[in-house]
Amino acid sequence: NDISLIGVPLQLGANRSGVDMGPTAIRSLNIQARLEALGFRVRDWGDIEVNRLQDRCDSDEKLKYLAEIARVNTKLAEVVAQEMGKGRLPLVIGGDHSIAIGTIKGVLQHVNKLGVIWFDAHSDVNTEFTTTSGNIHGMSLAVLLGHGHPSLTSIGGAHKKLDPRNVVIIGARSIDPGERLFLKEQGIRVFTMHDIDKYGMKTVMDEALERVSAGTDGFHLSLDLDGMDPREAPGVGTPVKGGISYRESHFAMEYLHEHGALVSAEIVEVNPMLDVNNKTAKCAVDLAGSLFGERIL
Ligand code: ARG
Ligand code: MN
Ligand code: MN
Ligand code: MN
Repeated sequence: NDISLIGVPLQLGANRSGVDMGPTAIRSLNIQARLEALGFRVRDWGDIEVNRLQDRCDSDEKLKYLAEIARVNTKLAEVVAQEMGKGRLPLVIGGDHSIAIGTIKGVLQHVNKLGVIWFDAHSDVNTEFTTTSGNIHGMSLAVLLGHGHPSLTSIGGAHKKLDPRNVVIIGARSIDPGERLFLKEQGIRVFTMHDIDKYGMKTVMDEALERVSAGTDGFHLSLDLDGMDPREAPGVGTPVKGGISYRESHFAMEYLHEHGALVSAEIVEVNPMLDVNNKTAKCAVDLAGSLFGERIL
C-alpha cells in the first residue's frame, strides 16, 4: 500500500509550453493528502530533471527534441523500475504524453505481461514515417508496441514491449490517417466516443478490463486529460470537443478500482497555462482519488 509520486515536467514532446507545470499544479492541489486519506503511504520522489532547450536547433529535426526526450524517458524508466523494486506503485505526473514511454518501459522491467488502458482523445501511434507534427507525444503508444525511432524503442530494452491484444484506447475521437492503418494492422481495440455513446461507459469498461486482464499480470492506466471533454477539462494542449464527461470519467476510474490489478498509472497533458481556474488539474486529482478508492458513501 505504498505509492511513489514521480513528477516529469516535460513539455518537449508536445512542443508547447505550460504542460511542464503540470506536476506543480497537481501537487499543489494536494494529491498526496488525498491518497494518504485512503490509507496509502505516499512518497514523493520529486521531479525528474528536464533540460530546457526550446531554443536549440534540434527542434527542426523530424522528431522534435528526440535526444532530450529519450534521455528523460531513460531516467524515468530507471526510477519507475527502482520504485517498483521497493514494492511501491508508481504514479507518474506529467508533463506531456511522451513520458508514457519511460513509465511503461520501467514497469515492464517488473511486469512481463502488462495490460494498458490508454484514456485519450488521440491514439498516439504515429511514427517518424506517419507524423505530421513531429511531436513525440503523438508517438508514445507506437513506441511501446515496438514501433518507432530506435532511440525510443530501445529504452529499457527493445524486447520490452506491449502485446497489442492487451492494449485498449478509450475516448478516441482524433486519429490521423497513418494511425488508423497502424491500429488496424496491430489489431488494437479502440473504444471511440461513438462506442461510449452507443454502449455506455460500463459496457465499454467491461470489455476493456477483460482485454487488459486476459493473461496479464495486471494493468497500467495512462490517463491523458484531453480524453475528457474540453468543457470540463480545458487545460490541455490538443483539445478535441465531444469528449468523455466528468461523470463518465469518474465512473471509469471507480470501476478500475473495483476491479483491482492496477500496477501503475500516469496522469499527463495537464497544462496550467491553458487551464481555467485549475479546472483540469482538479479533474486530474479527482480522477486519481477515484482510481485509488474514493467513494461517495
Ligand atoms: N495526432 C497528433 C500528433 O501526432 C496529436 C497527438 C496528441 N497527443 C497527445 N498526447 N496529446 O501530433
Ligand atoms: Mn495522449
Ligand atoms: Mn491526447
Ligand atoms: Mn478480471
